[in-house]
Amino acid sequence: MKGIILAGGTGSRLKPFTQIINKHLLPVGPYPMVYWSIFKLKDAGIKEILIITNHHHLDSFKELLGNGEELNVKLHYKIQTNNGGGIADALLCAKSFINSGKFVVLLGDNVFEDSLIDSIEAFQQQAKGARVLLKEVKDPSRYGVPQLDIENKAILSIIEKPINPPSSYCVTGIYMYDQEVFNYIEDIHPSSRNELEITDVNNLYIKKNLLKYDILQGWWIDAGTHESLYKAFQYVNQKSFKEGFN
Ligand code: DAU
Repeated sequence: MKGIILAGGTGSRLKPFTQIINKHLLPVGPYPMVYWSIFKLKDAGIKEILIITNHHHLDSFKELLGNGEELNVKLHYKIQTNNGGGIADALLCAKSFINSGKFVVLLGDNVFEDSLIDSIEAFQQQAKGARVLLKEVKDPSRYGVPQLDIENKAILSIIEKPINPPSSYCVTGIYMYDQEVFNYIEDIHPSSRNELEITDVNNLYIKKNLLKYDILQGWWIDAGTHESLYKAFQYVNQKSFKEGFN
C-alpha cells in the first residue's frame, strides 16, 4: 500500500511563522512536524510515500528529506498548483502516483499516538470503499463532525465545522481510500470557503454505504494553531512515545 502526506495549505492560523516556513516543517519535539506522519506510515509498513506541498516550499522539503533514504522510506513529491484549494484538491494531485490499489492519506498537521496497523488491516479486508479514523474531542465545531449510528457502527453524515455538532467526535485527518476517490473528487464543487472539501468526498462514500470507521484511543492533535502546536510538542516529548520511533 502507498501513503500520501498532505503538506500544503496556507497555515494561516500559525502566522507569523508560516509567512516564511511551511507549517509542516515547524518543530514538534525533536523533529519537524512532517516526520511524525512519515514515522506513522513507516511503522505500518508503508514506505512508498508521496508528499504534496506548494511550489514555495517544495525545495525546503527536498532539502530536508531528499529521497527518504535516511529515514528508510521512498519519498516522492508533487506540487498542488492551487495552493489552499482544499484537501480534496490536493489529493487529486496523487492520482498518477497511486495508479491502482488502496492507499492511506495523512494530513501532515495531524500528530497522534495510535498505530495505524489495525485500521489498515481492517481496510484491507474491506472489499471496497473508504475508512476514516474518529476521535472524541472537546471542541468538535473546529472539525468535520460525524453523525453516528453507534449500534450499527455507521456514519450517517459528516458536517464540516458545524455550529451545532451532531456528536462529540471529529473526523481526523487520517483517511483510507480506494481508487474511486478520484472520481468522487471530480464530482464535487468548491464550498463556501472556496475549497474542495474532503468532507464532501466522504459524504459521497456514505451515500453508497461504503464509509467505515475506527475510533482512535490514544491522544490526537491537529497542530494547526499556536495552542495545539504547543500541545503536540508536549505530547511527542513523552518518553514512551519518542522512544517508539528510535
Ligand atoms: O484535522 C482534521 C480536520 O482537517 C478535519 O476534521 C476536517 O474535516 C478537515 O477539513 C480538516 O480541517 P482543517 O480546517 O483543520 O484543514 P486545514 O485547512 O488546516 O488543512 C489540513 C491539512 O491539509 C494541513 O496539513 C494542510 C493540508 N492542506 C490543506 C489545504 C486547504 C493542503 O495540503 N492543501 C490545501 O489546499
